[in-house]
Amino acid sequence: MHPSTILMIVVATSAVVRGHPAANTAASQFWEQTLPGTPMPNSIADLVQKGTDHSPLVEPQHSAASPSSSISACTLFDSTCDAQMVAETGIFFHQAQLHPGNTMTLSFPAEAEPAILPQHIAEKVPFGNIDDVLATFKIPAGSVEAAQVRDTLSRCQAPPIAGEVKSCTTSLEAAVQSAMRMLGAAAGGGEVWAAASEIPRAGLPRQPYSVRAVTPILQAGYASCHTMPFPYAVFHCHHMARPMGYWAYNVSLTGRQEGSNVSLLAFCHLHTANWNPAHPAFEVLHTSPGGSPVCHFMPYANLAFVKLANRA
Ligand SMILES: *[C@@H]1O[C@H](CO)[C@@H](O)[C@H](O)[C@H]1NC(C)=O
Ligand SMILES: *[C@@H]1O[C@H](CO)[C@@H](O)[C@H](O)[C@H]1NC(C)=O
Repeated sequence: MHPSTILMIVVATSAVVRGHPAANTAASQFWEQTLPGTPMPNSIADLVQKGTDHSPLVEPQHSAASPSSSISACTLFDSTCDAQMVAETGIFFHQAQLHPGNTMTLSFPAEAEPAILPQHIAEKVPFGNIDDVLATFKIPAGSVEAAQVRDTLSRCQAPPIAGEVKSCTTSLEAAVQSAMRMLGAAAGGGEVWAAASEIPRAGLPRQPYSVRAVTPILQAGYASCHTMPFPYAVFHCHHMARPMGYWAYNVSLTGRQEGSNVSLLAFCHLHTANWNPAHPAFEVLHTSPGGSPVCHFMPYANLAFVKLANRA
């Protein structure tokens, strides 16, 4: 479909849905039916609302180059992010650091995530072909943003690492369906729980944070969906078929200087042998593929899907 045709569809549609809260969107109705008992995280609801009120097709947001969406791509197993930049955020850490009373220095950038498109629009917007994407969103060829679009497309097309199942999806509904399939869970069955880190939109200012509580999340498997740098929300979802190769935690932290409380989801990966040896986590943590476990916090609007271990 020609990009201008898509634009007309979007303008017509957004006139109909504008003004409704995220709670009334098709995405939130889908979420409630598919994941009963699991509230939609605030960060996701905000991005759904943003996609309704300020469609990136009408108001290009040029957020692909933002540090916020870049940091989440750094948590992929084949990441090649700049280790210095990653070290500054404190996103990767050792499992031994996860205990109450410990101090961790963190800084997460302010939210600048691309909007989540309504599914019926996402289905019509170009994704696979770079020229179509650049033309639709008026991104100049040769710009930093164009390079990030190319990088996201090539990461999405790259084969999974051994033992990994992965997908790239362009709507929330498709991301949820993909994660549920990976976990072998039926929609609406209540055996899967989904969550995101509770990070304020303004990000986390760089300061020491005290670990207040570390709560392990018992699980029979997990899948996660990471946002990627792109003009609209693209979720890169993946799952390791190998069981119990990771631990999930809910970590409560308090900023030492501001007294602000945050709850971050964290994953510790025990088996890193098949990761990209150039992964920034190895340099930051002074370890190597197959070495000590690599833990990371889940960045803003990244989704964790947990298949519950013993749900009687
Ligand atoms: C994590 O813990 C905090 C504080 O106890 C709680 O408010 C939050 O809902 C928990 N998040 C998840 C995903 O369990
Ligand atoms: C953070 O949590 C602690 C412990 O629950 C509480 O004492 C404190 O008042 C909270 N701080 C803020 C700013 O909410």
